[in-house]
Amino acid sequence: MAESISAGRKPDSYLNPFLSDHAPPVIEDPYSVPIEQINMIDGRLFQQDLHWQHFKRLREEDPVHENYLPRVGRYWSITKFDDIMFVDKNHDKFSSAHGIGIGPRVGDVTSSEDLDLSMFIAMDQPKHDLQRATVSGVVAPPNLAKMEATIRQRAGKILDDLPLGETFNWVDRVSIELTTQMLATLFDFPFEDRSMLTRWSDVATAAPRSGVVESEAQRRDELLECLAYFTRLWNERALMEHPGSDLISMLAHGENTKDMQPMEFLGNLILLIVGGNDTTRNSMSGGVLALNENPGEYNKLRRDHLLIPNMVSEIIRWQTPLPYMRRTANEDIELGGKKIKAGEQLLMWYISGNRDGDVIDRPDEFLIDRKSARHHMSFGFGIHRCMGNRLAEMQLRIIWEEIMKRFSYVEVVGEPVRLRSSFVRGISDLPVRVHKL
Ligand code: HEM
Repeated sequence: MAESISAGRKPDSYLNPFLSDHAPPVIEDPYSVPIEQINMIDGRLFQQDLHWQHFKRLREEDPVHENYLPRVGRYWSITKFDDIMFVDKNHDKFSSAHGIGIGPRVGDVTSSEDLDLSMFIAMDQPKHDLQRATVSGVVAPPNLAKMEATIRQRAGKILDDLPLGETFNWVDRVSIELTTQMLATLFDFPFEDRSMLTRWSDVATAAPRSGVVESEAQRRDELLECLAYFTRLWNERALMEHPGSDLISMLAHGENTKDMQPMEFLGNLILLIVGGNDTTRNSMSGGVLALNENPGEYNKLRRDHLLIPNMVSEIIRWQTPLPYMRRTANEDIELGGKKIKAGEQLLMWYISGNRDGDVIDRPDEFLIDRKSARHHMSFGFGIHRCMGNRLAEMQLRIIWEEIMKRFSYVEVVGEPVRLRSSFVRGISDLPVRVHKL
């Protein structure tokens, strides 16, 4: 779920000048500039892990913070836990239908090159609820229980194949591989073609000339190939008298989804592919990094594997794989003493809410035995609360249970490489070495 798909279009310097080659220098010390200059949309803050102090200053001095960009108009950064919760829960006042990443001003015409994707994360009631209800069963507890053994067996195989005594990239070998296999299971996607899922997920969220795709036309063509592939699967499964419990069968037979237009089908596919991919992947990598940076917590885990479920929640808080979600005000409204106008965008910075000391005890410490560890913002709240949260937690629990059966130490041996994005907080390289028990 990146800016591109969330607004149905590419994330580019047209909207976000911080992505351009002529971006102003990054603000390293937020206390060295007037507060008006702080703009959290700058992906370099996340790439260089500089954002913590920026958010701290905003929470303390200006928790509903105003910024302006020519193509976006005025928009607001919401950085306190309770304010974020208020916006997320009041879906009648704050709409998702104009996009969930920063986007063009409401009513602005968009480029005809873009695919007009439609997905339920970017819809309001009643359509949102109908579409969500149709697919949510696939990640409901009974279905998850059926999947657990398959995931465990696949996770075990991935870990058993890791090279001992060699440095390798944890992201490629474990995080991406396991989440891709999981997606293939969810869609009942031909297993031998599963790398295409990773490719489509990357393409969906890539900017032109990002190294992933060369042009917007290439991006469009590849996503249309994705649509064609899934349409074939759809057509086969739509004819089945006894539909399976995979996502495609559920969509093809669901009362509210069976007549979806192609771009709506593609949009929802991409939502499920990207939603279940980047987020879980980055939590797997982020967990390894957090334990290495907090050796005392790694020792606690070695002593007591029963801490794993609690640790998983703490990892998801600590990583906050999606730093923000956008809403658009339906009406003029006052928040934190600021007058927000109808049509203006609000960015709910979950990553900042997760460090709000008024709600979370010792928020800047990574504590795997934290009390109330599930009380974090990383999955959002309200009608759009993450549909796959239990699946994500299960995957992370299993991978850690299997890691602890095999390795005394997953040792980070080099600097992590982070993504230049304020929407997906991700790690692309994490050099590690694994040590056997
Ligand atoms: C650690 C992993 C994950 C994180 C941090 C995460 C985070 C989020 C967030 C922040 C939202 C929006 C919440 C809001 O607007 O209030 C969301 C929505 C969603 N997520 Fe996740 N997610 C994760 C894993 C998954 C997985 C594994 C799936 C796969 C099924 C998934 C599917 C979805 C869907 C379909 C939505 C849209 C829900 C709606 O609009 O009703 N997510 N997720």
